[in-house]
Amino acid sequence: MCGIFGIVTSAETNLSEPLLGPTLTEAGRRLSYRGYDSVGCATLRADRSIDLRKDVGKVDQVASRLNFQEMRGTRGILQLRWATFGAPSQVNAQPHLDSDGDMVGAHNGNVVNTAELRQQFMAEGMVVRSTNDGECCVHAVERYIDRGEDFIAAICHAYVDLAGDYAFVIGRVGEQELYAVKKGSGLVAGIGEGFTCVSSDLPSILPLTRHVVRIEDGEIVTLYPDHVELHSVLDGSPIQREIEIITESMESAQKGGFPHFMLKEIHEQPTVAGELLHVLAELPEMEQILNRLKTARHIYFVGCGTSYHACILGAIYLARLAGRPAFPILAPQFSAQYGPALDQSDVGLFVSQSGETKDVINAIQVAQSRGMGILGMVNVVGSTLTRLSEAYLPLVCGYEISVPATKTFTNQVIAFLYLAMRLGGHPTDSLDQLPELMQKTLEHVAPQIEPLVELLAPRSDLYCLGYGLTYPIALEGALKMKEITYAHCEGMLSTEFKHGPLSAVDEGYPVLFSAGPEDTPLLVSGINEVTCRGGKAIVFGQDDPSLRSNADILVSLPPAGANLNGLLSILPLQLLSYHLSLRRGFDPDFPRNLSKTLTVD
Ligand code: M6R
Repeated sequence: MCGIFGIVTSAETNLSEPLLGPTLTEAGRRLSYRGYDSVGCATLRADRSIDLRKDVGKVDQVASRLNFQEMRGTRGILQLRWATFGAPSQVNAQPHLDSDGDMVGAHNGNVVNTAELRQQFMAEGMVVRSTNDGECCVHAVERYIDRGEDFIAAICHAYVDLAGDYAFVIGRVGEQELYAVKKGSGLVAGIGEGFTCVSSDLPSILPLTRHVVRIEDGEIVTLYPDHVELHSVLDGSPIQREIEIITESMESAQKGGFPHFMLKEIHEQPTVAGELLHVLAELPEMEQILNRLKTARHIYFVGCGTSYHACILGAIYLARLAGRPAFPILAPQFSAQYGPALDQSDVGLFVSQSGETKDVINAIQVAQSRGMGILGMVNVVGSTLTRLSEAYLPLVCGYEISVPATKTFTNQVIAFLYLAMRLGGHPTDSLDQLPELMQKTLEHVAPQIEPLVELLAPRSDLYCLGYGLTYPIALEGALKMKEITYAHCEGMLSTEFKHGPLSAVDEGYPVLFSAGPEDTPLLVSGINEVTCRGGKAIVFGQDDPSLRSNADILVSLPPAGANLNGLLSILPLQLLSYHLSLRRGFDPDFPRNLSKTLTVD
């Protein structure tokens, strides 16, 4: 996820222009936890020039290579870019200049009508230098400044033209202000001694000042050296807002008010799902990926851990919605199981949050040696997987810090669902309701989880069962449970339970069932096999009289079709494992013995 930072200083107090480079570089370091591939810095100088330096790479590497430390000016902008529109490259890195180079700006988020806007800007004679959506924000303002409007009016009009969720910061030579606007992406302003600043989030502001103003959607903030002013984008009218004094620690600020990254990431799922849907709809490589899958002899979905569970759900979606079989396979088993049968008419879709998992990279090498087509689905752009793939689907989750994967799993599943719908020729508009449904599910299940935590906290052995679309959800729920509660929790196809594991059931033995709406009768049998032996059946499913009367406890989910229910079913299991982990005295973000990225065999 990109991050922006802007600062305005009172130059008049200094004989020479302030050295802004060190402050901007430090802001970049503090934004870097969000994940990024490129870094850029711009300062607006008293001589009406703009010093712009940017490139692909890490903050410290780019800052040292381009000598950010020496950058001077009265105002400065820093941006970290996480590529979605336009490949990671020097020209696509931000900030961007307007046509004649006297304005500079940078954004965070996605401008989803970038392709149309670029055509319009070029037709209007503007100089468009990149394929990045951030440049559109600058030209959208330039368009109205060139028509003689003042900055506030120009931003109000640009806001209407720019579709998507974003925040941007912009300034012009020969003035003393910077302007920023918020629509869907985070934006906070800070007010300090002799400066004001604005940023995507608090960690880059708090080392400078604890006096902040939170910007709401549809608001423009103008930064002056000694104060900030707010205006509405509707009509430019002024808005009054009290300054807030932040007392919380830096670490808790990074967690956005949540006690752990895992909980923050669980609650980010509706937002990143929405961002993913925007990106998939505009992804330039989408046709290439669909064609590759359409024409493949055999399709393999390859991953490890959570990513493998998404692969299983992906294969189910592909068969249901596109009538195409696919083989989901654990990466280290790929060669052992299918090696001799692979050839150049096959395609592998390699799925990984990090894009660095050694088991996955090894499987890609096998696929390469057989001449197979290599596609990727990955969160970290610039990772080895993105470099080895002919084309990849970005998961656009931003940085996932907590070791247990949550938001990357749901976005993997959504990406698979989208691919299956497109391959099967189904309209994808039904997915637009997903972010809201996910939000509703989180709110609906949270209070139902609390009593379960007390019940399950003393248990160190349990099962998590599912069938059909909820089979991979049971595997994933069990993985979350094992990973952060350290209890033994086995995920299994519900119908397999009677073939052996049923012998574990005695009085009070907990068995969790993830129930899809299509499979209720089958699951009711499984539930009774447990309850009639004294076991405790805890069911996660849509409210249904037969589930309610057969289960010991029903955690009800909001109504949704079977495909979406499959996806929503993981949310209560994520929350349950999080709260159980805390109740058992563990840190869910950093479980013992585990690492977020496994670059070893
Ligand atoms: O980065 P990857 O998706 O390739 O990682 C694969 C697994 O290590 C990972 O999904 C792991 O299972 C999760 N952290 C579990 O929550």
